[in-house]
Amino acid sequence: MKNIVILISGTGSNMAAIVQAARRDNWESRLRARVAAVVSNRPEAPGLAVAQQQGIATGVVDHRPFPDRQQFDLALGQEIDRHDPAGQPALVVLAGFMRVLTPAFVDRYQGRLVNIHPSLLPAFTGLHTHQRAIDAGCRVAGATVHLVTAELDNGPILAQAVVPILTTDTAHSLASRVVTQEHRIYPAAIADLLRRR
Ligand code: GRF
Repeated sequence: MKNIVILISGTGSNMAAIVQAARRDNWESRLRARVAAVVSNRPEAPGLAVAQQQGIATGVVDHRPFPDRQQFDLALGQEIDRHDPAGQPALVVLAGFMRVLTPAFVDRYQGRLVNIHPSLLPAFTGLHTHQRAIDAGCRVAGATVHLVTAELDNGPILAQAVVPILTTDTAHSLASRVVTQEHRIYPAAIADLLRRR
């Protein structure tokens, strides 16, 4: 069985969409894959309760007590690997995980680490993507699923969704339309990746 570990920091709506797709499309028998655990760096992340309600194992590695990124990432890796009998989950899925990861962590999960970013990469890496797209006068925005490399919001693109920017849009209204598309493309991109493995 390919074990998937999802990392969150907040609401976890993308995580919930992945869990739902895994159930709906029967990943266990069709892809020999399952969401083994949801891990958060924030104990108060609402997504943890959502995962628990779905009967999924959860874990917390609070980043605050750690003196540096290296030591946090090491502890995070140990927590992730615990959810696979061989200590090697097939996929680590970043779903609104709001921590910059060290090159050592990225290296540890090379080829097994995916992220979703709320812009049409390579445009608008980093934060406040929707406001920046509106301010730049873009006619379209969107979201990108990509393999993670050591460079922030970089790495081979696996899927994208395009959303028109309306003249009436605020960052909030645009974000809510983009996230709806994220819920569609993220589970599909993960299923594709598992199928190709
Ligand atoms: C999403 O917009 C995702 O693209 C970004 O953070 C947000 C997470 O939302 N990385 P949620 O926690 O999945 O609801």
